[in-house]
Amino acid sequence: MSYSLDAFAKDLKQVLAQGQGPAQLEESRKLVEKALKDPGFVDANLGDDAEGERNIVYEDPDLGFCILTHVYEGAKTGHPHDHGPAWAIYGQAFGETTMTEYDIVEPPQGDKPGKVKPRESYTMVPGDARVYQVGDVHCPARDSATRLIRIEGMNMNGVKRTPLVPA
Ligand SMILES: [Fe+2]
Repeated sequence: MSYSLDAFAKDLKQVLAQGQGPAQLEESRKLVEKALKDPGFVDANLGDDAEGERNIVYEDPDLGFCILTHVYEGAKTGHPHDHGPAWAIYGQAFGETTMTEYDIVEPPQGDKPGKVKPRESYTMVPGDARVYQVGDVHCPARDSATRLIRIEGMNMNGVKRTPLVPA
């Protein structure tokens, strides 16, 4: 039987109920990889019928974490960003994402955006999952269509993010 969204959410909840530090996020990342490696799971949640750039497919009523699916068309390079007060786990289901991580060289002050410098870049291929701790600055880019699953520590709708620009 394939891994279901329900079972995935339950497994994540069991891990994240113990805390949301590096150890639990690493365990959660492994669950994302498990989901990505299950063709039935990928088909049901990010298969041919999937659409929409940002879908919240599960929001935990107790812990607040969210499971999102993303169907992206065409090439696009994002902007360096963090996820405000939330951690995030990115999981690649289809296509390739070039992810760049940044160091903050000048923190934001008031309305003045913070300055960031690239530290490392890597390519995420189907089956890969990465953790971004609270405050980790990153920027995804793609050459063509991609499909991703992401977990966020909280529903980020309406949450203000730190303004950042390249140094
Ligand atoms: Fe992000």
